[in-house]
Amino acid sequence: MKEHIVKPLFSEEEVDLKIRELAARISEDYAGRQLHLIGVLKGSVPFMAELAKRLTIPATMDFMSCSSYGGGTSSSGAVRLNKDLDESLEGRDVLLVEDIIDTGHTLSYLLNLLQDRHPASLKLAALLDKPSRRTCPVEVDYSCFKIPDVFVVGYGLDYDQLYRGLPYVGYVEFV
Ligand code: IMP
Ligand code: MG
Repeated sequence: MKEHIVKPLFSEEEVDLKIRELAARISEDYAGRQLHLIGVLKGSVPFMAELAKRLTIPATMDFMSCSSYGGGTSSSGAVRLNKDLDESLEGRDVLLVEDIIDTGHTLSYLLNLLQDRHPASLKLAALLDKPSRRTCPVEVDYSCFKIPDVFVVGYGLDYDQLYRGLPYVGYVEFV
């Protein structure tokens, strides 16, 4: 691990407010329906928990795990499924919840995988979106923040598994 410091990008209050706003939007869009939230482990956990707490519609949860990044801060491009879902998606309104969309490789892999399971609908929510890094086009239905090309940590996001528990979003600066 290279020597580095973490600088603040979005405060706990800013993130909290954005998630509340997003939850209100999603609750409105899915009014009268039940939503099935799918979290991508491990990075989506804090975001998914906050989002679920603020939804005013009934929601269920499931989790899956895949890996695309090795240990560092750059993508290898390859995606592997480590843990599959527990439940079927047949006929359900599914919202895939991710921490960040970077190159889009992970998400396009996962969206294809989930689409093949015949959900009634499938949308994507991400805490952060790094559009300048996109090499695989994916439609981001909901996101809290668009960010420039910096390596971010906190609120679920890690640098070599560290910092996932930070209550704010920071970025890594190498010294
Ligand atoms: P993608 O497949 O390139 O879109 O990468 C998606 C995954 O890479 C995310 O779910 C994160 O786990 C990881 N990732 C991408 N950018 C960052 C970052 O800035 N900080 C921490 N993890 C990141
Ligand atoms: Mg991730």
